[in-house]
Amino acid sequence: MAVPKKVIWSRDPHTAAKHDLLRRYLSAWAPILLSRHDVITYAEGFSGPGIYEGGEPGSPVVAYDVFAGALHRYPKRLRMVLMEEHKQRAEKLCEQMGLAQARRPSDLRDRLSVDVREGDFHPALIQKLRATGSLGKPLFVLLDSYGGPDIPYSLLRDLAQQPSTEVMVTFAPSFLTRFAERDLAHRRRGDAAFGGQEWQNVFTKPKSDKFLFLRDQYKATLRRAGFSHTLQFEMLDEGGRLLYLIFGTSHAKGLEKMKDALWGVDPSHGVRYRDPKDPDQQQLELALEPNTAPLRRILLDHISASHAGRTVEELQAYTLLETVFRPAQVINLIRQMRYEGVVLTEPNGVTKKTRVTPPTSHPAAGPAAPEQDTLW
Ligand SMILES: C[S@@+](CC[C@H](N)C(=O)[O-])C[C@H]1O[C@@H](n2cnc3c(N)ncnc32)[C@H](O)[C@@H]1O
Repeated sequence: MAVPKKVIWSRDPHTAAKHDLLRRYLSAWAPILLSRHDVITYAEGFSGPGIYEGGEPGSPVVAYDVFAGALHRYPKRLRMVLMEEHKQRAEKLCEQMGLAQARRPSDLRDRLSVDVREGDFHPALIQKLRATGSLGKPLFVLLDSYGGPDIPYSLLRDLAQQPSTEVMVTFAPSFLTRFAERDLAHRRRGDAAFGGQEWQNVFTKPKSDKFLFLRDQYKATLRRAGFSHTLQFEMLDEGGRLLYLIFGTSHAKGLEKMKDALWGVDPSHGVRYRDPKDPDQQQLELALEPNTAPLRRILLDHISASHAGRTVEELQAYTLLETVFRPAQVINLIRQMRYEGVVLTEPNGVTKKTRVTPPTSHPAAGPAAPEQDTLW
């Protein structure tokens, strides 16, 4: 997709997938945090006009509707801070947010404040968040540019240093691989986004490795900024341009919920992602019956790497923190692997405490009978 010139433009499939993911994630994030905090904040640096040509809602309206539902259940407050640089898009966004608010009862409108600002997101967004006391309290920041790179590392660091902040950043690697090698100004833009120059090693990589290298550098950048967990989604826009959505959090719960959201995204949207721990770097299509073959290989490697094997609980933690798969996928997979004789379990029934070892640890044992899926 070329960068749109019009005030509103048509929504393409990858945007639909992004909204699906956002809706699913915020539907978990908001109730969990509202159950524990009096006020939480959602912010966008690149909000868009709030509506697409076909009438579909933009990301701020998607988020607003989720929050209105959550605040129905919790008598708490939620603040939305929305930045948009393009004047007419900002006006359109004000209009769309006004319509979203008008659909809700007035007591809810008082508890769900919406602040639309026209202008460059940086440094206005962080200043606004600071001035409203939103930093240091639960905060989700969506930085959904056309892929830039546009986000200064210093902003990521300022956000990551706050204990309850999470970010989702859109990153398009093609700009840097196409233009930055020969153009100093473009390279500087890369340096500002990555907070250093290591990313420039991309110029020495073979063509086939360049995008993955930059993606991993960007994830490392988020971790260096202070987000202990990252997760990436790979999307192709209609022009075949690769976009990554990179999520950063310092909470295992946030990571778990984002994975749940990812595995729930409508597969017809065609979002794909790769697991960095999968040696084949296989691209997975999100499917109703997820392909867990890569997780199987990953778990087997991890089990084999320890003479004593691993408990199911350890395998679930590893799955959560080190792969794109979900802990909930582990138990059934271990049962299946045990049935096929690929691993042994002690005791036979698979629970969190069960120890899983490679068959070579107990050569006499054979496949056990399949077990009913009653424990999960
Ligand atoms: C990819 S679109 C956002 C789409 C929106 N998040 C959604 O999903 O519906 C990017 C938006 O960022 C705006 N934008 C570009 N540069 C900006 C900047 N420096 N500060 C604020 N907004 C900017 C553009 O005008 C455009 O509306």
